[in-house]
Amino acid sequence: MDMAASTRPLDWLADFPAIPEGWAYLDSAATAQKPRAVIEAITKGYAETYATVHRGVYQRSAEMTLAFEASRARVARFINAASAEEIVFVRGATEGINLVAQSWGRDNLEAGDRVLLSTLEHHSNIVPWQLAGAQIDVVPLTADHRIDLEAMAAMIRPEHKLVALGHVSNVLGSVLDAKRAAEIAHSVGAKLLLDGCQAVPRMPVDVADLDCDFYVFSGHKLYGPTGIGVLWARAEILDAMPPWQGGGAMIETVSFERSTYAPPPARFEAGTPHVVGVLGLHAAIDYVAGIGLEAIAAHEAALVRAAREALSGLNSVRLFGPQDSAGIVSFAIEGVHPHDIGTILDEAKVAIRAGHHCAQPLMAALGVEATARASFGVYNGPQDVEALARGIERVTRIFG
Ligand SMILES: Cc1ncc(COP(=O)(O)O)c(C=O)c1O
Repeated sequence: MDMAASTRPLDWLADFPAIPEGWAYLDSAATAQKPRAVIEAITKGYAETYATVHRGVYQRSAEMTLAFEASRARVARFINAASAEEIVFVRGATEGINLVAQSWGRDNLEAGDRVLLSTLEHHSNIVPWQLAGAQIDVVPLTADHRIDLEAMAAMIRPEHKLVALGHVSNVLGSVLDAKRAAEIAHSVGAKLLLDGCQAVPRMPVDVADLDCDFYVFSGHKLYGPTGIGVLWARAEILDAMPPWQGGGAMIETVSFERSTYAPPPARFEAGTPHVVGVLGLHAAIDYVAGIGLEAIAAHEAALVRAAREALSGLNSVRLFGPQDSAGIVSFAIEGVHPHDIGTILDEAKVAIRAGHHCAQPLMAALGVEATARASFGVYNGPQDVEALARGIERVTRIFG
């Protein structure tokens, strides 16, 4: 394969102690493995510097608060937010979207208002809007499995108060032209929320340049810890949003008659936060930034090209998604259930995901119940693509 654009992938593999020799981990779209720098940051956070934040009058807590807030500033720089106050720490993308649906939705979605989604959305960008009582319209896909922005331009109307789209599909790897989506959403005064779960680990993301209004992602797909994620929204939008969960840390004053609320981001961070998760996220961002998101994108593009080329040579294999999909390749083999593909590949030490990938409406649109999915990270190399191709050949031999 052409690895000219991807430098030193094996050095990156050496950063990941949980990937043993000879194991092809191809499930990074579900969750990424952790580099030593992240593991060390978490260990240090518990073993050396641990304390709560924002409350303690003692020095340890004051220092931890500084580290916690430094991480917020690091996230802001990473996605080019205007300020750290625009960064809300949440449990993950799922919680970020639920926050927007419950808080912004409660204030901004009235009877008759509609939300525009697309066919390829993850359940976490569908169900929260249903729970918020929104009327949902769905943008279809193009023949090569991208969100059809021309169809979106023709469908959108002033009743659409919000458009919520996946920046990169977790099944197809298709990359949204987010700037064009923002133009279309804003043409009727709608806000644009981007689900950046699969984009942030694989390409540079600049929320100012994308011109979106909300952006969410999960730390664990970005080589960071589970249980920590980010909601970004423009300061004036966050300022106007009501709290969605009540408790400690999100208030200014409390009495039994009435409470007043802290300004963002504290307003949306009720309770003791995932202190050490935030430190781990900081280390994860430093790690990917150290490699460079452009380099990661080029590295994964080369792996995707090689995987698609290898699999398209097998005539019973059906590939989904566009040719230039980002880091993710979904496929099906005629007459073989994806779970059987996954099991046979596992015997060959190749870990892929098989199932509906939390995208049942997309499965229905593709006319399948499930797909097999290989997804790449910085630790993968040509050897993993070769192992995948060998495993698939074996599957086709076994099933005749
Ligand atoms: C595109 C997309 N959106 C949202 C999510 C939900 O992320 P989490 O489970 O980390 O909240 C995922 C994770 O599978 C995803 O791939």
